[in-house]
Amino acid sequence: MLVNSKEVLLEAKKGGYAVPAPDFIDLDSARAYCKTAEKLKKPVILSFAQAHSEVISLHEAALIGKFMAEEVSVPVVLHLDHGTDIAFIKEAIELGFTSVMIDASMMDFDTNVKMTKEVVEYAHARNVTVEAEIGHVGSGENYENHDNSDSIYTTKEEAKRFVELTDVDSLAVSIGTAHGIYKGGKPALSFDTLHEIRDEVSVPLVLHGGSGTGDDNLKRCAKEGISKINVFTDFLVSAMNQIDIDKPKDYLALKVSSNKGMMNTLEHYYGVFETK
Ligand code: 13P
Repeated sequence: MLVNSKEVLLEAKKGGYAVPAPDFIDLDSARAYCKTAEKLKKPVILSFAQAHSEVISLHEAALIGKFMAEEVSVPVVLHLDHGTDIAFIKEAIELGFTSVMIDASMMDFDTNVKMTKEVVEYAHARNVTVEAEIGHVGSGENYENHDNSDSIYTTKEEAKRFVELTDVDSLAVSIGTAHGIYKGGKPALSFDTLHEIRDEVSVPLVLHGGSGTGDDNLKRCAKEGISKINVFTDFLVSAMNQIDIDKPKDYLALKVSSNKGMMNTLEHYYGVFETK
């Protein structure tokens, strides 16, 4: 069932748990996430990153996402992840995405506010919810080829001001995670920063860079103020690991293994995040 993120995230915030936001890159991964959500009777934020429009087009992603969402009875949010240009975001909304992220986190504060406000205005008029990022979650060694890799921690003052100025529906914050693989083991997160922001900001908070962060860290985040956790790299890693284990003899068997790896990983994270 296709929904926007409003109720899903408000319920999570109220219930003290997080909803997983796995990135899909093809029909198989989208199906693996939606079928797992359906099996466990839990919501899912089915995400497609603008950076992956080189793998499948936005049109293809919209068709796959809408189709899979209507195939299952649980709430599915079709979310544009890391939208960096406004024309692309508006196109995603026109194509049926029910939630979008405007990521202007590497811009100065005023530009981030201005771009986010423009997206919020356009999206809210069409019943689409908006996530933005303040501070910046950088990247490790990863699959996404980000140019910017320096994380900037979010402060409670700018988070509060940003939400007031933009009317955004959820806010991605930077508390020590990075996108992709961590070279030096799992990161140390600043839970003090998370608590400070949680106490100041009224909207649900989002954590990016979930992969490799460690189950104990993620469980704490979900319990202590994060309502949505983005994960991508771990799904690719688990697909490859399952292929290594199964040693498929042909391409069709390989797809079965890869899907199984992704489904197991999502099931695992539903448990860690205690998603209801
Ligand atoms: P990871 O690949 O580190 O899990 O990050 C995913 C993400 O934050 C997508 O927005």
